[in-house]
Formats: sequence, C-alpha cells, structure tokens
Amino acid sequence: MADVFMNTYHRLPVTFVSGEGSWLRDKAGKKYLDFTAGIAVNCLGHAYPALVKAISEQAAKVNHVCNYYQSDVAEAFAEKLVAACAPVGMRKVFLGNSGAEANEGACKIARKYSLKHYGPGRHTIVSLKGSFHGRTITTLSATGQERFHQDFGPFTEGFRFIPPGDLSALDRVLDPASVAGLWLEPIQGEKGIFPLDPPYIAAAAKYCAERDILLMLDEIQCGVGRTGTFLACEAYGVKADIVTLAKGLSGGVPVGAVLAGEKAADVLDVSDHGSTFGGNPLAAAAGLVVLETVQNPPFLSEIARKGERFRAVLGSWEHPKIREIRGKGLMIGADITTEAWPVLEGALAAGLLILSAGTKTLRFLPPYTIKDAEIDQGLELLKGVLDTL
Ligand SMILES: Cc1ncc(COP(=O)(O)O)c(C=O)c1O
Repeated sequence: MADVFMNTYHRLPVTFVSGEGSWLRDKAGKKYLDFTAGIAVNCLGHAYPALVKAISEQAAKVNHVCNYYQSDVAEAFAEKLVAACAPVGMRKVFLGNSGAEANEGACKIARKYSLKHYGPGRHTIVSLKGSFHGRTITTLSATGQERFHQDFGPFTEGFRFIPPGDLSALDRVLDPASVAGLWLEPIQGEKGIFPLDPPYIAAAAKYCAERDILLMLDEIQCGVGRTGTFLACEAYGVKADIVTLAKGLSGGVPVGAVLAGEKAADVLDVSDHGSTFGGNPLAAAAGLVVLETVQNPPFLSEIARKGERFRAVLGSWEHPKIREIRGKGLMIGADITTEAWPVLEGALAAGLLILSAGTKTLRFLPPYTIKDAEIDQGLELLKGVLDTL
C-alpha cells in the first residue's frame, strides 16, 4: 500500500472494489461475507438499490448547498428523523457529518442549557468508564477509556467518570449544583458490546429529571434500528434530553445528528453552532431512504429476530474458545480466550469480515438486510477459524 496515509489504522491486506447485499468483492474477484457493515454504517448492505437510486438522482440534481439556504430534501429528512426519535422525547435536530461532531454539539447544548438556567460553574458532564464518544479533543475528554488518553492533553475540562451499573456512585456524582449532563451509551460498543442494565438507565433518567441534569444518550453505534428498535433507549422506556446519531443514519454517506427534546431544543441560537457540510442534500437523500426502510415495525422486528438467531447459533457451539456472548439485535460481542486479531486475519482469509473490540472480544455488526443463510454461512466460517487457531 502507498506510504501516504498517516499511520492511524492497522489495515488488513485487502482492497474491496464492489459490493452487493452482505457481500464485498476484492480486486482479484474473491467474495467476502460482511459481518461489519463498515462498523455499523452500511446498515442496508452494499449497493442497496433504493439507496443507490436516491444518491445518484440527488447527485444529478444538487449535491450540496450551504446551510444559508433551504433544502426540501434536508427538511424532509430532518422531519422524519425527529418523528422517529419522538418516542424518547426529541423535538429538533442539528445535522453534521460524524459521530464526534454530533457529540461536540451535544456538549455545547448541555453546557449552554445549564449556563442559561443556572449561571456559570454548573458545567460538569458525567460519563461512564468504558465509554467511547469520539476522537476530537472534547469527545476524547468524555471517553472513559485510558488507552485513548495518551499523548493528546491537555483535555477539555469538566468531565467525570463513574463505573457503569453502580447506582450509588450515580446518585452521588449527579450533584445538581455542578453537573450539566449525564452521558450514556445504552450499549457500550467500542468497549466490547456491554448493554446497560434497564434499572440503571431508569434510575439515571429519574435522577436527571429530578435534578434538571440533561440525560444525553450516545446512540451513534446502537441507534438507527441496530438493536431492533429505532433507538436502543426506546426499549428501556425512558425519555432523554439529547440523543446523538451517526454511522448507519445515511447508510454510508457521512452524516451525524444531535437531537434535543423539550428542554434543550431551542438552546442554540443563530451563529452558536454550524457545519459546512452538515445535512447536505446528498446525505439527506440517503438518510431518507434509511429512515423509510428501517423505521417500519416488521423490518425492526426482523433485526431483533436475526440477532437472537445469530447469538443462539454462536452459543449452541459451546465453543471452548468463546467465554461470553453479549448484545442486542444485530450488535453482538463475543469474548474469546485468545487474541482477537488472529481471528480477524483468519476470518479474512476464509472470506469473512468481522471486527474486534479491545484485544479479546469479537464484534459483529452485520447489515440489517443479512439473510439467515448468510448468518449461518458466516458463522460456519468463523467456527472453522476458531477450531484451527
Ligand atoms: C458510541 C460512539 N460514539 C461516537 C463515535 C464517534 O463517531 P465518528 O467516528 O463518526 O466520529 C463512535 C464511533 O465508533 C461510537 O461508537
């Protein structure tokens, strides 16, 4: 590979040139079954016909207009997105281009809300150990994993971390005199697929409501249908104040969204925030297809069913190298007894794409459109790799 990229990724030695459904094809014509969906991005699989059509048609009309002008397609996308997130209390959206950018917006909204209502000093954002919120300086500051905190300080001030699941730590840290927001991933993805317990999320929502601390949910990896409901937090029956989305939201076109509910929807004023590309017609046209496809109850229940099936097959092996299987819908993690990287390499050689999280967890984020037979086929390939390592 040409030596022009910065050294940020450990890239596997394969170049994909085309894809269809759950499959990718490399330069030599070899096919690979994709259990990664580009890290939860290609949620409708590769070359999904309605997505290809919408992107091509929009590109032929107008690809980008800046946010000083109106756009029918961006408006339709935003309306549909807010409606999809209304069950958890969302009312308005700001569109950007990535998860980290959405999360930066979430911090600004939480801090400005607190400043407006309580004055300076009440700016702490509490987040969880093991969390991941992005790679910018502020979203790294909010990320509760030491390994991301090397070399890049000083960080943004005002973040505190508590262990997930510890109700008394939650009660203690949520001091209404100093805390603006509580930030949770309903399922910690980068940590290795760890769902929060329903009583923990319920207590978090209750404390936040009682203390006027904004409940901020990072659904960048677990949202947009991945767990079998449009937002993962719907299944917990809680209302949030801020929700962030990205990854699968436009099925592969860069996008990010920060949504806010009643309390915070009107916190940002003109010039408070902005993004050149945010919500441009191309991303919006793609996002509309994703919303129209995913936000439909039979499609969502199929995601839940396929996920259960995936986990059931994986569990049925009682494989000596698999220690624990976790997850919800098509967001699945499996702790293994050996290093994950050789499994990824073995799987690649066998024609299967999988992810890791940390050093000893395999992570599976297949497209929602995956077929039962493809799940079985991919898992058989994985079993072969685990058996031989
Ligand atoms: C939960 C969560 N938040 C934020 C991000 C950052 O998103 P992006 O890489 O689009 O900036 C990620 C990416 O993996 C994520 O999983």
